[in-house]
Amino acid sequence: MIITIDGPAGAGKSTVAKRLAKQLTSVLFQPFEYLDTGSMYRAAALLGLRNGVDWNEPAQLETLAQTAKIEIDAGRTFLNGEDITDAVRTKEVTGKIRYAADNPVIRRQMVELQRAVAKRYAEEGKGLVSEGRDQGTVVFPDTPFKFFVSASPEERARRRLGEMAQRGETGDFDEVLKSINERDYRDSVREVAPLREPKDARRIITDGMTIDEAVETIVQSVSMTLTLRQSVSR
Ligand code: DC
Repeated sequence: MIITIDGPAGAGKSTVAKRLAKQLTSVLFQPFEYLDTGSMYRAAALLGLRNGVDWNEPAQLETLAQTAKIEIDAGRTFLNGEDITDAVRTKEVTGKIRYAADNPVIRRQMVELQRAVAKRYAEEGKGLVSEGRDQGTVVFPDTPFKFFVSASPEERARRRLGEMAQRGETGDFDEVLKSINERDYRDSVREVAPLREPKDARRIITDGMTIDEAVETIVQSVSMTLTLRQSVSR
């Protein structure tokens, strides 16, 4: 069983998806894993930074990514055996992410990897909460459990500033808001896998909602869909 959580940057998707996997594990009596697909694109960008690629030569990053080992296990992301889950959350990586996320060759590689991870978990009897920008539209279009988690740009800017403050960083509201709007725009107009709301997704707008409320809304929706499907198949 695959649950997709898509949506724009800073909407609280990761926190919601992580908690959702835990919550579903206890509610549905089946282990659920969480897949942070953004960290896979971040891993490719980190690879480029570490190897000093020429960003104007996409083939350099493509070759590096193809020979690297990007692995996912228990919600963590590994690059050639090194746990880089936290190391990829830097400004430097975010600054170069578009070279990985806008590259069709890298995207194809990551989509294959994401499907392989889902297959492995399914074989292990585990469900998956997969979070990203294209999970419901491109990677797992057949799942009936699709969610689009969003929040207003202003709310997302406030949250981003809060996260930065927790890390001891400071930021300017207008600047953060501007970069969120720019990132949304780039994500929505890029040629390969632009950010689109899946037609059959349930939309969750998290302004004024706690994380737990958002998670609960999704759990209830999943339970209802499961009950409906069971009663139809009976
Ligand atoms: O969710 P995040 O901030 O870690 O994502 C990093 C970047 O990767 C962001 O610019 C969007 C992109 N991304 C993507 O294009 N497709 C995904 N499935 C996940 C993330």
